[in-house]
Amino acid sequence: MPTNTRAAVLWGPEQEWKVEDMVMDDPGPGEVVIETAYAGLCHSDEHVVTGDMPVPHFPFVGGHEGSGVVTAVGAGVSAVEPGDHVAMSFIPSCGHCRFCSTGRQNLCDEGAKLFNNQMISRTEGDISHTIGEDEAARFAQLGTFSERLLVAEESVVKVEKDLDLDAVALISCGVATGWGSAVHAGRVQPGDNAAIIGIGGVGINAVQGARMAGAKRIIAVDPVEFKREKAMEMGATHTYASIDEALAAIPELTWGEMCQTVILSPGVVTGDLIEPAINLVDKGGRLVVTGLAGLLESDVQLNLFMLSMMNKTVTGTVFGSGNPRADIPALLSMYREGVLKLDELITNRYKLDDVNQGYEDLRAGKNIRGVIEF
Ligand SMILES: NC(=O)c1ccc[n+]([C@@H]2O[C@H](COP(=O)([O-])OP(=O)(O)OC[C@H]3O[C@@H](n4cnc5c(N)ncnc54)[C@H](O)[C@@H]3O)[C@@H](O)[C@H]2O)c1
Ligand SMILES: [Zn+2]
Ligand SMILES: [Zn+2]
Repeated sequence: MPTNTRAAVLWGPEQEWKVEDMVMDDPGPGEVVIETAYAGLCHSDEHVVTGDMPVPHFPFVGGHEGSGVVTAVGAGVSAVEPGDHVAMSFIPSCGHCRFCSTGRQNLCDEGAKLFNNQMISRTEGDISHTIGEDEAARFAQLGTFSERLLVAEESVVKVEKDLDLDAVALISCGVATGWGSAVHAGRVQPGDNAAIIGIGGVGINAVQGARMAGAKRIIAVDPVEFKREKAMEMGATHTYASIDEALAAIPELTWGEMCQTVILSPGVVTGDLIEPAINLVDKGGRLVVTGLAGLLESDVQLNLFMLSMMNKTVTGTVFGSGNPRADIPALLSMYREGVLKLDELITNRYKLDDVNQGYEDLRAGKNIRGVIEF
């Protein structure tokens, strides 16, 4: 029996989300049906709305942060069974490609199919999700803005049943990406100075990652006062409203050390932010570019002489350079023990039908993270 669901979809860029009835196929081999519990409102979905992230197929179901309960599984599924609680992983991990088998699941080869309308578990031409007569694509092979999900086993990570599913949803993108940007990609060490530029659902967790890695100064930069206050609650030691303000203060604040790690996590990265951000970096330090730029953006301002002579590193990161199957349970275990804060991250809760309000609030800087509650 095909499953009916309601899902928030885009019919094209620069449009509002519309909640539509969608029909999902029975789970095929390697597939899982999930009753969605929560979906997080990440800025990455907003990039599809603005057209910064052009996607090949509409209608397009939004959402890639999420949690839920497994209700059915297809043939051959061994990792989960009905009743299991799961976090979504916006990067599927197959377990046996060159990257998965060398501890770099965030670079799993299946990631190449992230925006295909075709499910990764299906063969060419096999349509799994339909809205009326139209085939529907799903963000990162997930599309968590939907009451029910049909996804490949590779895209779910089983979690302990006693954990709150709202916390589980946040882990699946913003927390893992932000925390990993500091701990994995940023390599923050005890006694370091770390700066985080852009305190949203991602940046706030880079603040937490830097705190847990033992940074002595954690400098949060955001134009919105509420974000700066929240950063202080979550472990920041100093805040500034702009990169320029930070640049004026950090030399003296750090006794000339500057920042061993700078994480760039604003809503939209532009090429003109790279040079000011790297000017906050210490000799031999790292600039981690976590925020996404428009797909066609390729102009960057960067003093190449200083890049070499100051021995600096500029690195990108996807999923905070972590492994979904290791990091998601590990982060939830840290939450259980009270080391990682998750409850404090949710600013507002919305019904699926209010998803546009959720994104209005994101644009207005009102949310650390908004979640859709199903
Ligand atoms: N690399 C990855 O794997 C990955 C994963 C998730 C999200 N992202 C990207 O990370 C970025 C952040 O996502 P989010 O959900 O936290 O966004 P968000 O909208 O919740 O937060 C962005 C914050 O940046 C601030 N900001 C904007 N311009 C700024 C500037 N010039 N200086 C300082 N702060 C500035 C805003 O006030 C806001 O508080 C987005 O680009 C998103 O697409 C990347
Ligand atoms: Zn995200
Ligand atoms: Zn793989």
